[in-house]
Amino acid sequence: MKTLVISSSPREDGNSHVLAQSAIDGTVRAGHDAEHVFLGDYVERMLGNCRHCRRSSDGLCSLDDRYETLLLEKMLPADGIVFAMPLYFYGMPARLKTVFDRLFCYTANSAPQQDQVINGIMNKKVGVVISCEESYLGATQGVIAQFQELTRYLNQDLVGVVVGNANSRGEIVNDPTDPVSAAANLGERLYTSRVTDYRLDTARSNKVWDCSPVGCPDR
Ligand SMILES: Cc1cc2nc3c(=O)[nH]c(=O)nc-3n(C[C@H](O)[C@H](O)[C@H](O)COP(=O)(O)O)c2cc1C
Repeated sequence: MKTLVISSSPREDGNSHVLAQSAIDGTVRAGHDAEHVFLGDYVERMLGNCRHCRRSSDGLCSLDDRYETLLLEKMLPADGIVFAMPLYFYGMPARLKTVFDRLFCYTANSAPQQDQVINGIMNKKVGVVISCEESYLGATQGVIAQFQELTRYLNQDLVGVVVGNANSRGEIVNDPTDPVSAAANLGERLYTSRVTDYRLDTARSNKVWDCSPVGCPDR
């Protein structure tokens, strides 16, 4: 499997980077390929009005940064994506939000790459690792709900979210809840973790784990 880790903090030596690196270590440990990219190298422009930005000659997006490379060459081929982010004002950094906003330019009916992008963006495993200063649950609840909804909309599986507390660069390693190990675990189990979302009529047994009382295989 191919795992893409997208770091959205401008601090490439910051806390969410530590979590990103740990997720990479985990996914590599599980035998998967990993690639790590920094959003600042790809996304510089915000979503515009497609009627103005779309080139009249071929209908392609004219925003002159490397978003298209990120989307078509990095995100679409990945089996799983881990988004690493600092919490900014109880939400995701604007540069990361732009990744989702500009997806519209490639999935709209007027987009030449519509079929490629719609088919390529679905059915991925997604993880999110977040670094923030505040520990109360409400601080991250909004952005977690947003990831839940956008992965649902994109037909992706939100496998897990790791939250660690830190502010100064790198101090996340001192968080006693050990988000660094949790990020590694998320990366390691990105493709094997159980992700369920039942409906009343979902056929299922009364057991969650299919194993004997003395031992359960790792899953
Ligand atoms: C613009 C900005 C907004 C922030 N907003 C919040 C916030 O709402 N809640 C919070 O707990 N921390 C907030 N923080 C703190 C960062 O989330 C925290 O320092 C994080 O560890 C930074 O991650 P990084 O080192 O990967 O950049 C904010 C920091 C910045 C720069």
